[in-house]
Amino acid sequence: MQSATPSPVCLADYERLAEQRLGAMAWAYFSGGSADEITLGWNRQAFDRLAIVPRVLAGGKGGHTRLELIGRSYLHPIFVAPVAYQKLAHADGERATAAAAEAQDAGMVLSTLASVTLEDAAAAGATCRWFQLYVQPDRSATLRLVRRAEAAGYEALVVTVDAPINGVRNREHRAGFMLPPGIQSENLRDDAGPIAPLGAGESAVFDRLLAAAPTWDDIAWLSAETGLPIVLKGVLSAEDAVRAVEVGASAIIVSNHGGRTLDTLPATIDVLPSVAAAVAGRVPLLLDGGIRRGTDVLKALALGASAVLVGRPIVFGLAVNGAFGVAHVLRILRDEFEIAMALSGCRTLTDIGAHLVSRGPV
Ligand code: FNR
Repeated sequence: MQSATPSPVCLADYERLAEQRLGAMAWAYFSGGSADEITLGWNRQAFDRLAIVPRVLAGGKGGHTRLELIGRSYLHPIFVAPVAYQKLAHADGERATAAAAEAQDAGMVLSTLASVTLEDAAAAGATCRWFQLYVQPDRSATLRLVRRAEAAGYEALVVTVDAPINGVRNREHRAGFMLPPGIQSENLRDDAGPIAPLGAGESAVFDRLLAAAPTWDDIAWLSAETGLPIVLKGVLSAEDAVRAVEVGASAIIVSNHGGRTLDTLPATIDVLPSVAAAVAGRVPLLLDGGIRRGTDVLKALALGASAVLVGRPIVFGLAVNGAFGVAHVLRILRDEFEIAMALSGCRTLTDIGAHLVSRGPV
């Protein structure tokens, strides 16, 4: 980094520095949400509206942040969310992110739309163990991805169910966003066929994109085809969460895709309590969207999540300082989370409960 640049000390500092480093198109792609970006704003504001009511004199000796999740133990509950095309942020792309995640003992989810192959990412970081799957229009193409993920040692499939099509990404449109030559989705490069023109009266949304959108039947089919646990990403309603449990999901990620799909979807932390009540501990819940501080992690765990995922701050760290930037972002969040636990009277994650959170300033 240039010596004149003040060292980043929090995730917001990384965001400001990333804006200076990234070109206008890449900045619009990574930082933007959909339409008026109302959900993008709510994801943050909803965390800020929650106050923490601490317990004092609780002691802290022997405390830790360890947890068990889908058959593995993790040192802390902060995961790297799947974010597409990370070479837009840094030439090393997802390889650097995977190496940094391993250095910080963070579980990582690799996107179907990664700009490196899923095999390369798995080789770059031993904690890159979950593969995010976009169900493909053709089942044989989906199965090819699944078999590659199994062979590369991935231990779970994170099936994203909230984005059969892109949201109305006005910020990207204004910036004229296009993938530059040399950056593409490496996992799908053999599957891109020619696109037939639309017929008269056909809708690009309903006749083309949504005709291939996955349904609950595809999830049942997928579970029958693979021994890997399936995590459903993008659930916001209690009803869908219950259905996810019924079809055999091993975990659910409460997510609105970081405010990039349908604008005015609720903030994830606002719907988490109702999803948690409906699921009633039958499968673990994870949450993403707007996690920027250790206190946000604490609030998410207090309201029912077992772990959280972080999206944009990871790519901002990557843009600012490659693998070192990603590792630093994760370290900052871990440190802040430990401080939040210590100052609210929590020794382990099981001490974190709804009693710590109060709505609005107290
Ligand atoms: C995403 N997200 C995403 N999710 C997914 O399942 N597959 C993907 O390929 C992508 N790609 C992607 C690109 C970019 C630029 C962003 C910002 C997000 C969504 C991501 O996994 C996560 O849900 C959100 O990023 C979480 O919100 P925060 O942490 O960015 O606020």
